[in-house]
Amino acid sequence: MHPVTLIKGDGIGPSIMDVAVAVIDASGAAIQWHEAEAGMSAYEKLGTPLPDATMASIAATRVAFKGPLTTLVGEGFRSINVELRKTYDLYANVRPAKSWPGVKTRYDNVDIVIVRENTQGLYVGLEHYLTPQKDIAESLAVVTKAGSQRIVDYAFQYAIANGRNKVTVCHKANILKYTQGLFLNTAREVAKKYPHIEFDEKIIDAACMHMVMKPEQFDVVVTTNMFGDILSDLTAGLVGGLGLIPGANIGEDAALFEAVHGSAPDIAGKNIANPTAVMMAGVMMLNHLGEHAAANRMQAAIETVVNAGVYVTPDLNPNSACGTREMGLAIIDAMR
Ligand SMILES: NC(=O)c1ccc[n+]([C@@H]2O[C@H](COP(=O)([O-])OP(=O)(O)OC[C@H]3O[C@@H](n4cnc5c(N)ncnc54)[C@H](O)[C@@H]3O)[C@@H](O)[C@H]2O)c1
Repeated sequence: MHPVTLIKGDGIGPSIMDVAVAVIDASGAAIQWHEAEAGMSAYEKLGTPLPDATMASIAATRVAFKGPLTTLVGEGFRSINVELRKTYDLYANVRPAKSWPGVKTRYDNVDIVIVRENTQGLYVGLEHYLTPQKDIAESLAVVTKAGSQRIVDYAFQYAIANGRNKVTVCHKANILKYTQGLFLNTAREVAKKYPHIEFDEKIIDAACMHMVMKPEQFDVVVTTNMFGDILSDLTAGLVGGLGLIPGANIGEDAALFEAVHGSAPDIAGKNIANPTAVMMAGVMMLNHLGEHAAANRMQAAIETVVNAGVYVTPDLNPNSACGTREMGLAIIDAMR
């Protein structure tokens, strides 16, 4: 049995995670779930958004399957997602976006994997007000050569392991010559170790334009923390929305799997949230655990149901009366 810490999370979290857990259990994978709390729901219940018991559970299992957590905008506690990534040094955030034949979008040939540096950049949390009246604030971005080396190396290794041919580094080194310059120069150095993989560089703003106009130019994309956060929502939009994109947060000796999307308070409690993104994160987790047969079975069933477009949530088919739970049942049926 593989022990896994299960955090259902906030908003739509519990409903999509219940479905994802049922589907994973039905896939035949040998998972022993250890439920733990985090986020706004933990804060309201226990007075802390990240209880010690949750940290102890992840420290023991080294693998977490997590629903989205609410972080208030401009107030309240710091992001627990950022805290977990920092604590377990989950430096590589891998977010694949691939067109689904049954989901109608502008393009049918998108196949992009964003590899986002997950522990540095502008998200290190070094920000403060400079004046007592709080009318000037500053944030610091931290980029290290070692941190840049390991994420770019990860991107190339990912490309090799997954039969991909090209790595594009996205940066803003024309303006941020030190932090982004260090990232770009390090990427250029690392790329020389992999002459058989095509290497390309794009300034982030131009990369956004190219990505919406000609997404087929991109294969594996490696970039710094905030650019990766934004670009992966862009790629989600290219393939049918946030309900479809999984994410893996990988460190040397721990990993956390989740959807790219947030807790979606606007649709929480309505049984209409799309569980596909967390289920696909579950597929990534099963592959990480070596449960390849169960992962393949689960992925095939998800693809069958999503591409058929009948037992899917309304974000994928506005005429559908199918809810989150019913979609999960259809996927379990498809696995039988
Ligand atoms: N990894 C995480 O835990 C994570 C990631 C992003 C945002 N958040 C948090 O989530 C909260 C809400 O953030 P937000 O509204 O900016 O982003 P969001 O991703 O929750 O929602 C953006 C839009 O996408 C829709 N959407 C998201 N997931 C969906 C799904 N599975 N099915 C159908 N529609 C879906 C929502 O209804 C909403 O209209 C914030 O507190 C934010 O900090 C958490």
